[in-house]
Amino acid sequence: MNTHPATHPPAQFPADFVWGVATSAFQIEGASDVDGKGPSIWDSFCKLPGTIADGSDGHVACDHYQRWSDDLDMIASLGVKAYRFSTSWPRVQPTGSGAWNAKGLDFYERLVDGLLARGIAPYLTLNHWDFPQALQDKGGWANRDTVQHFVDYALGMHARLGDRVASITTHNEPWVMSVLGNETGIFAPGIKNRGTAAQVSHHLLLSHGLAMRALRDVGCKASLGIVLNLSPIQGASDSAADRAKAYLEDGRLARWYLDPLFKAAYPADVLTDLGADAPQVQNGDMDIIATPMDYLGINYYSRTVVSADGSWNVRQSGLELTEMDWEIYPQGLTELLLRLKRDYPVPPLFITENGGAFKDPLVNGQVHDADRTRYLQTHIESVHQAMRQGVKMGGYMVWSLMDNFEWASGYAKRFGIVHVDYATQARTLKDSAYWYQSFLSTQAAAALAKAA
Ligand code: FCB
Repeated sequence: MNTHPATHPPAQFPADFVWGVATSAFQIEGASDVDGKGPSIWDSFCKLPGTIADGSDGHVACDHYQRWSDDLDMIASLGVKAYRFSTSWPRVQPTGSGAWNAKGLDFYERLVDGLLARGIAPYLTLNHWDFPQALQDKGGWANRDTVQHFVDYALGMHARLGDRVASITTHNEPWVMSVLGNETGIFAPGIKNRGTAAQVSHHLLLSHGLAMRALRDVGCKASLGIVLNLSPIQGASDSAADRAKAYLEDGRLARWYLDPLFKAAYPADVLTDLGADAPQVQNGDMDIIATPMDYLGINYYSRTVVSADGSWNVRQSGLELTEMDWEIYPQGLTELLLRLKRDYPVPPLFITENGGAFKDPLVNGQVHDADRTRYLQTHIESVHQAMRQGVKMGGYMVWSLMDNFEWASGYAKRFGIVHVDYATQARTLKDSAYWYQSFLSTQAAAALAKAA
């Protein structure tokens, strides 16, 4: 029972607005080496000393591979219309090319059928980072051959599930895979090379465009797009140097992906900044990348403030921070959505992730996470603000359904609206889950009343 009910945002969303919750394969499934699954770069990365804050890995995670059916009942109990999940490439194709793993494919088929049986639309992401180690051994995303392997993987998943999923996302957050995975090296595969990172980003984008074309060629009915992590980037002061820094950082995070996707070109200032590290691009690549999408997914968590001399510290602004030390800045979401509408010919936008990590202990079977509820409520209100100003929005998904493996932070950071006790795997709905459930039922009732 929710003993701390928060008021609902006053906003009434359209009846066809898609409300959901999101997860990803590596973060919840566990079963990292059973039923023929091949190793992913995250399995390998977790084994390296010092990579994961609490020394943990994805071996068991939320044991979702075994508990999927109960988890689907839990999702259904929330009253969401959609569930965003990812398929693990090495679970279905252990070495990333060639032979398929029947048991892995069967798992996702059960999952998709289970969702449909419960009236929930499956939103599939093909690449949420758990890339096959066997392909990494051949150069990973820096190797152009990986592009074709990804297209084959996309077609294989479509052949099995394409008639039943509502949506297929090619990649989740290419910036993270490129920069955190290959430039700063704090995420798998842990490479520290700016040129490699730039080449990786180009091949991710190219494979996105090629996969969409290939899927459409075989008659794919699901809506197709990509998910970007975006954040408004502001200078710490109005000085020319801080503003220039903010512009370049926005170039690397946002324009580096948005310009090719919507204008078929990389931003000139970022190319100049990269210099000899700029990626190799072949004739025709940019047109493929700019293949029209059915939607653009956006993961939004916070704003970003930068200063030219690197002295900015998040504690300076006085804004509340989440457990990740991310500023809570809901108005940034409205700003971001309006900017996308202003600067690019965007298709309908989806918030594919939004949420926060907070300290929220389980006490007597309850989790009173009023801070998370407030976070969700204010961000949902920000989405509505943008819609009132003409932004076309398709839906909103909470990150995350349940506490899970938060990459380099391990299990210490909890983003779920459902608490997971990792010792027993018991799931407990937090107050924020009850709030979301009640918010969604109010939305549904209002939509029904309007239709009557
Ligand atoms: C995003 C990731 C997601 C999760 C959240 C907190 O960058 O897509 O898997 O880790 O951050």
